[in-house]
Amino acid sequence: MKSRILCAFIASLLPLSAQEPMRPAFHFTAEKNWLNDPNGLVYHEGEWHLFHQYNPHGDTWGHMSWGHAVSRDLLTWEYLPIAIPEKDGIMAFSGSAVIDHANTSGFGTDGHPPMVAIYTGNREGRQDQRLSYGVDNGRSWTMFEGNPVLDVGKADFRDPKVFWHAGKQRWTMVVALPVERKVSFYSSADLKKWDHLSDFGPSGSVKGVWECPDLFEAPIEGTDRKRWVLSVSVGDHSIAGGSGTQYFTGEFDGERFTSDPPPKSEGSGEPTNWIDFGRDMYAGVTWNNAPDGKPRWIGWMSNLKYAGHTPTTPWRSAMSLPRMLSLRQTGDHHALIQRPIEALDGWRGQLTRLAGRSVDEANKVLEGINGKRFDMLLRIDPGNAAEAGIQLRTGKNEFTAVGWSRAKAEVFVDRSRSGNTGFHGDFSGRHAAPLELKQGMLELRIITDDCSVEVFADDGARVITDLIFPSESSQGLAFV
Ligand code: FRU
Repeated sequence: MKSRILCAFIASLLPLSAQEPMRPAFHFTAEKNWLNDPNGLVYHEGEWHLFHQYNPHGDTWGHMSWGHAVSRDLLTWEYLPIAIPEKDGIMAFSGSAVIDHANTSGFGTDGHPPMVAIYTGNREGRQDQRLSYGVDNGRSWTMFEGNPVLDVGKADFRDPKVFWHAGKQRWTMVVALPVERKVSFYSSADLKKWDHLSDFGPSGSVKGVWECPDLFEAPIEGTDRKRWVLSVSVGDHSIAGGSGTQYFTGEFDGERFTSDPPPKSEGSGEPTNWIDFGRDMYAGVTWNNAPDGKPRWIGWMSNLKYAGHTPTTPWRSAMSLPRMLSLRQTGDHHALIQRPIEALDGWRGQLTRLAGRSVDEANKVLEGINGKRFDMLLRIDPGNAAEAGIQLRTGKNEFTAVGWSRAKAEVFVDRSRSGNTGFHGDFSGRHAAPLELKQGMLELRIITDDCSVEVFADDGARVITDLIFPSESSQGLAFV
């Protein structure tokens, strides 16, 4: 029996005005030039701040500075001037930002709590942690004259994520020791003086450098409990190849992180929890100070293997869709769940509904639908087919396949014929995540923008984020 489309909601996402080829409509890109990690994610007075690693002088990595944008819905962004520039040969590497409500730092003025950025200063042979601050909603910035505030004399010591630890009533920092494959925890009363608490690692995936850690509490679905999540980006040898992100769940008592037992091994190497099984989700971190207290994050939608070569101009690299994070408990394992932010629902335009159709019948309907930007919810009965799923961005000799393989029991994105794949030898390929079907049914949420595919399976427990660069004319859809 061939597979059957039990139910499909295929929404075109609202078209925006014409843009340069490949420029996504609802994923953040810099106006021009190079971008990498999200930095300083913080919510304040109705605005979501998205600072980011940015090169003001070109479309490849260099002169790292903090670019800045703000949004009220996490989907449409207003560009603001550079917040933290490269200065005196010291680049501003990744870090975080907090709202110092109680003015512990003394940087505030009457009634205006400061926004304080904690970033890594990078120069030849040395990385240290620095502060920059402002009292006007992130519009103007002053570098702290007492910088650096934390220097342990190392060449690799970076990406501080600072948050307020309510239990201990003090600031807490998690920061990477990339070469040692460790993170360190520090605490501070005033953001200026930092005391070492403990270290964690090496653990899980250790073949690549550890970068951009985050530590946050995530709600456990269906309960009123929370558990701590430590996420760590690893520079190479991730599940999909190249850079990717792993996570640990566990306890954080304000001093020390104790990891839950590692999961069963997924793929080769040490048992590792991977957050995303695609090749293009890196350096993700969560927003501080969210009004509802819920964790949501965004990542850099590229891979260190080929980020400098992606075929776009005058901008290079986009951020992922912002995603809500939670945990799902099964026995004593807690799986990290990612879901697209709800605001995307408001972008749905023309909706095509299909129910109870054969693949052939459904494809007749799809012949009338073209586009680059979709939000799809698919429920497919694979029957005894070897593979079931959908091809996106189909055109002359081109398609991107999203589906499920019975033999491999996995959900996959295959971009080997997705369009321009030849710009770098590590781009083409197929990326997959283990997937057990529930009651024999395949359920997928797939979101496409001009140059990306994000697949959410098993209700957000299996996610694949992949870039694609199809021809402009390849805009068809077909079930397989
Ligand atoms: C991760 C990273 C960070 C660093 C930044 C520099 O992509 O290497 O560790 O702070 O990029 O741009």
